[in-house]
Amino acid sequence: MSEISRRSFLSAAWKVGFGLMAAAGAVTTLGLLKPQLAAGFAAIVRTIAPNEVPEAGVLEVPEARGYLVNVDGEEVLALSETCPHLGCRVPFIDENNRFECPCHGSKFTREGDYVEGPAPRGMDAYATEIVDGVIEIHTTEVTPGPPPGTERT
Ligand code: FES
Repeated sequence: MSEISRRSFLSAAWKVGFGLMAAAGAVTTLGLLKPQLAAGFAAIVRTIAPNEVPEAGVLEVPEARGYLVNVDGEEVLALSETCPHLGCRVPFIDENNRFECPCHGSKFTREGDYVEGPAPRGMDAYATEIVDGVIEIHTTEVTPGPPPGTERT
């Protein structure tokens, strides 16, 4: 029967410990590098029927990080909530019937067209598709907003 010396036991314990720490570090690093699209920001977001989008104001769609906008009962736009200037979230201000960025003051019409401020263009729009009578927002297909002085619709 062989006896393990204290020195060889400690050496093996240190090797196992360092191996576990290296494995934990690798798992953590991979987790940080992996895209987080599934966490609250889906590639395709099913919403509601086009005729259910309110004619006034906008409908916020948090899962898409955007808004649905009914344009004169004829068209529904899906706008990104991300400001085209430096990326702040742009809320819709009901009292002024327009989007107003709280960071540097860019303003956009209800349809996402540029009004004023440092933003280089209007709000970006997502592609949409009607599937089984419901609007699906494709958050990976983005059309840049129209340049200042032009209208999307
Ligand atoms: S981030 Fe919106 S105006 Fe600067």
